Amino acid sequence: MTQPVRVLVTGGAGFVGSHVVWALHDRGDEVVVYDNLRQGHREALPTSVELVEAELADETTLDATLGRGRWDGVLHFAALSLVGESMQRPFHYLTENGGLGIRLIDACVRHKVGRFILSSTAALFGNPETLPITETTRIDPGSPYGESKLMIERTLYWADRIHRLRYACLRYFNAAGADADGRSGEDHRPETHLIPLVIDAALGLRPEITVFGNDYPTPDGTCIRDYVHVSDLAQAHLAALAKLQDGSVTYNLGSGTGNSVLEVIRSVERVSGRSVPMRVVGRRPGDPAVLVASSELIRSQTGWAPRFTQLDDIVASALAWRRRNPNGYGNAA
Ligand code: UFG
Repeated sequence: MTQPVRVLVTGGAGFVGSHVVWALHDRGDEVVVYDNLRQGHREALPTSVELVEAELADETTLDATLGRGRWDGVLHFAALSLVGESMQRPFHYLTENGGLGIRLIDACVRHKVGRFILSSTAALFGNPETLPITETTRIDPGSPYGESKLMIERTLYWADRIHRLRYACLRYFNAAGADADGRSGEDHRPETHLIPLVIDAALGLRPEITVFGNDYPTPDGTCIRDYVHVSDLAQAHLAALAKLQDGSVTYNLGSGTGNSVLEVIRSVERVSGRSVPMRVVGRRPGDPAVLVASSELIRSQTGWAPRFTQLDDIVASALAWRRRNPNGYGNAA
């Protein structure tokens, strides 16, 4: 049995963050969430979890929060996360994600936080030459978003080497799905991710799904991604937290299976029993053709394995959440 831990979760009211908060809460850990609620939602959190509503850039509040007793770990999710937007606002992304991430690590070292988990990304790999993507695949971010996460990964390396801060970099592929008990789900504003958009097209909440290109070098011409259930990602954070006792780690996190855009659309049609109006348009700049993870390292080192191995099951959980929350959290349309 692991001892309960006391952790601070930045961006804990967001999509992946809130599922991790629920997983920590479910096993009895003490969790405080630090979130500016620009993308996050109070309703995504257990009512008993304290929320510090503040900016990461607010050094006074961050210092005061980290100064409140001993923290076993900081889990860092707070970030801007749109690859396309980062191509338009590179310095904003590098400063907000990279710069504030570095300052957070500095603050953690000053406050003697022992463990740090970074929400990292497959966007570190750009357009990989070999598949599946392992932890030794060449790093070559294709966007300032990916670069900003790399800045934080590199800072963690030095924080460990010089200050003995133990860290886990968890590089997610395409997070999807929703909590099985309906306690949290995906509600980005605006929504740009494929699965929630296809679901909305199936439910008539939007007129159609636009497919960004069908001339990629893939069997059906559309991009292939590795969709991994957000609750499986959450469990991987618990596994990584425990593994940090042995030293710092970096893991790729996916289901190991690739699905094309058209396969996602067919899956939503199967699971919802509705047809999805679609229209093929040009490619979205910056989209790699295929991104599929090898998660062998975390499997072999921690025993973690995704429970959701079928795309239809991931889609079903996302669909169930959306059916119950057609307007997302709160009353906003
Ligand atoms: N897509 C469409 N139509 C849409 C939306 C998406 O065809 O309306 C396609 C995209 O072109 C892509 C696939 O669906 O081929 C998945 O797109 P998402 O926007 O859902 O996800 P991405 O793979 O672009 O990005 C995700 C995360 C990023 C992360 C990246 C790592 O959102 O934060 O994976 O590759 F950096």
